[in-house]
Amino acid sequence: MKYGYFDDRNREYVIERPDVPVSWTNYIGVKDLCAVLSHNAGGYSFYKSAEHGRITRFRQNGIPLDRPGHYIYVRDDDTGEYWTISWQPTGTDLSIAKYDCRHGLSYSKFSCDYQGIQASQLIFIPIDDDVELWDVMIRNATRKQRHLSIFSYVEFSFHHIEIDNQNLQMSLYAGGSSYSDAIIEYDFFYEPWTFHYMTASFIPDSYDSMRDSFIGTYHTESDPEAVSKGSCFNSSELGGNHCGALHKKITLLPNQETRLVFMLGVGDRKTAKNIRKKYSNFTNVDNAFLGLREYWMAKLDKFQCKTPHDGLNSMVNTWTLYQAETCVVWSRFASFIEVGGRTGLGYRDTSQDIMAVPHTNPEKVKQRMLELFNGQVQQGYGLHLFDPEVFNPPEAKLPGVRLPTVVPTPRPADIIHGLQDTCSDDALWIVASVCEYVKETGDLAFFDHVIPFADGDQGTVYEHLKRSLDFSAEQVGKTGICLGLRADWNDCLNLGGGESAMVSFLHHWALVNFIEAASFLGRDVDVQKYTAMADKVRRSCEENLWDGAWYLRGFTRNGLKIGSHENQEGKIFLESNSLAVLSEAASLEHSQKCMDSVDKYLYSEFGIHLLWPSFSKPDDDIGYVTRVYKGIKENGAIFTHPNPWAIVAECKLGRGERAMKFFNSTLPYNQNDLIEIRQSEPYSYCQFVMGRDHTAYGRARHPWLTGSAGWAYHAVTHWILGIRPGYAGLIIDPCIPADWKEFEINRQWRGAAYHIVVKNPNGVQKGIKDIRLNSKSIKGSIPLQQAGTTNEVIVEMGH
Ligand code: GLC
Repeated sequence: MKYGYFDDRNREYVIERPDVPVSWTNYIGVKDLCAVLSHNAGGYSFYKSAEHGRITRFRQNGIPLDRPGHYIYVRDDDTGEYWTISWQPTGTDLSIAKYDCRHGLSYSKFSCDYQGIQASQLIFIPIDDDVELWDVMIRNATRKQRHLSIFSYVEFSFHHIEIDNQNLQMSLYAGGSSYSDAIIEYDFFYEPWTFHYMTASFIPDSYDSMRDSFIGTYHTESDPEAVSKGSCFNSSELGGNHCGALHKKITLLPNQETRLVFMLGVGDRKTAKNIRKKYSNFTNVDNAFLGLREYWMAKLDKFQCKTPHDGLNSMVNTWTLYQAETCVVWSRFASFIEVGGRTGLGYRDTSQDIMAVPHTNPEKVKQRMLELFNGQVQQGYGLHLFDPEVFNPPEAKLPGVRLPTVVPTPRPADIIHGLQDTCSDDALWIVASVCEYVKETGDLAFFDHVIPFADGDQGTVYEHLKRSLDFSAEQVGKTGICLGLRADWNDCLNLGGGESAMVSFLHHWALVNFIEAASFLGRDVDVQKYTAMADKVRRSCEENLWDGAWYLRGFTRNGLKIGSHENQEGKIFLESNSLAVLSEAASLEHSQKCMDSVDKYLYSEFGIHLLWPSFSKPDDDIGYVTRVYKGIKENGAIFTHPNPWAIVAECKLGRGERAMKFFNSTLPYNQNDLIEIRQSEPYSYCQFVMGRDHTAYGRARHPWLTGSAGWAYHAVTHWILGIRPGYAGLIIDPCIPADWKEFEINRQWRGAAYHIVVKNPNGVQKGIKDIRLNSKSIKGSIPLQQAGTTNEVIVEMGH
């Protein structure tokens, strides 16, 4: 069953049936202001932080689904009938009303055709203004004159989400609303620099800034009293629940159309007045939208592919990059799953997310790396989850004035945890990300950039990386395998006191990356030291972790094996095996064998399971994973994030068919017509898909903010299509299905453009016979070309 389709030409996903089983969301905004909105315009907006800077409310996990939202009501003033431009909240009968939603790159457009009125609401945020614009068009498609009333509605939230949810004696009395000159201003009297507003391009006929007046007692967003009656109550008050409802009466002749622009923004009445003036000129609205389109096109142009695989093209060229960027820009705590309870960065999550987008967002990637290094302690480990602002607090705007609710302000010393809370993998991921960033940008000086440690002293980026590597070399058990500490990548596998195979492999991968960088920089002493370290890690892994047909996952604190054929449950795990190969720590024979086992025991039509068989009995020696239901999340679901590791592993082994089979199994695009099973957005990777051991096998959950996107993007672009920057040249090393005859890439790298045509006349999966750069045959990678040039590259695969 399907609910929509990919419109590749417009880079939109079109939802034609709005009664989707779960909310299909989109992210509006690219800088500081963001709205997370569903295909029914439900959702919320925030400024900088979904925890501290909330603008509109959201009743998460509620019924009906995804309320409230950013709504426009249309009322026929001749009949009194009304509906919304998004299908919800009125839920107008779909057999007589036509609805669709187009989710695009940082905008969503809702359309409705009902009672001869064609209406649309385009929501987007201009790049340089902190305002959400609702560009509304209303057209009379009938032969008679129509009298309509148009109403906007948002429910304002207290800006601090915890207080808004839990401390109503503060939230209900510390904010007030007022109206004048077409502007509703929501102010925080105690914090006189924080204001939100709602205004519009017209002079309203009525307004409400009090939620309960607009909605009415025992009414809901489905049947607000103001809309039923045809006019707002002109309400405002100091204290209470506030909203942004502006009402305009319009008359439309047959075929006449009109345009109204609503503005929901950050700032006081004065700011609102300027914004109102600016965007009441619709040319400025059009230009702002164009600016947003261009902003995204410039990013997408960094890498575009044309392959025989339509789904791969749609996802790589638009959706997966978009998702990966979203994770980097908004981190992981603003969605319909994480609803603003946390602010900041997860050390391992952000370290991995940034690896995918140094070509499209080098500034943000650099900012994130600096923040992360600031969250690394001198001993080398990273703070698992922290708010970078703690290290660089903004200046107090009203010195001496403190909130009556005593929420302690954390200082750096309060958030620095000890080893008992350290995850053994956290600070290892950033090594590859730094290297990817430098290979992409050529910014070698970044290695010498000096950054403080979280607990005092400072060091260069290069020094920070060494501390991560040294930390993992010290934190090993008797066998030389890395200790698991509080947890490793798998949050639920608390090997506490035990040892983690995956972290040793990860350590090796970080070392391989570091040694390559140190060699390029000519730091020979380090090359020797860390090469010896990598040799030692490899030996320990091969001596202790091989289980006969795959690698173990680790040892419990009592020395029992995890992920062994000897176990009854959790016999084989994905993470250790895919990383063994990806990290190049495993021998060729073991690499092939263990990936064959992954294919045999873990692969399914919906992706590779994290482990098999799922645990059925709690065993606290293994960890919390044994207390998760079978087939859900870390206990034997298809956890999407490590799936691309297996794709990279297969590419390193030259097995393009297998890599593509793995890629296809998790590709959301491929499940567009299976929504009765998948349920979630087919344009977004989800954190996990229920595994075979669960009754809802195939159901995907937790879209958008997951490491799956960045890793999937990396696996396809760098390893399947095989175009990846090196320090000195652009490497071409595809690994594809044998029946692909040809594909094309447009890649921009350090200011020059490369049009790459890869031909595969001999039907191989990997291997390069010949590369021609601007008609000249070359060996090895493509040397960097002058900025501003466009270069033709013809590649012939073969042996
Ligand atoms: C979640 C966490 C991530 C962790 C993964 C596996 O996605 O955000 O940090 O690695 O679960 O446990």
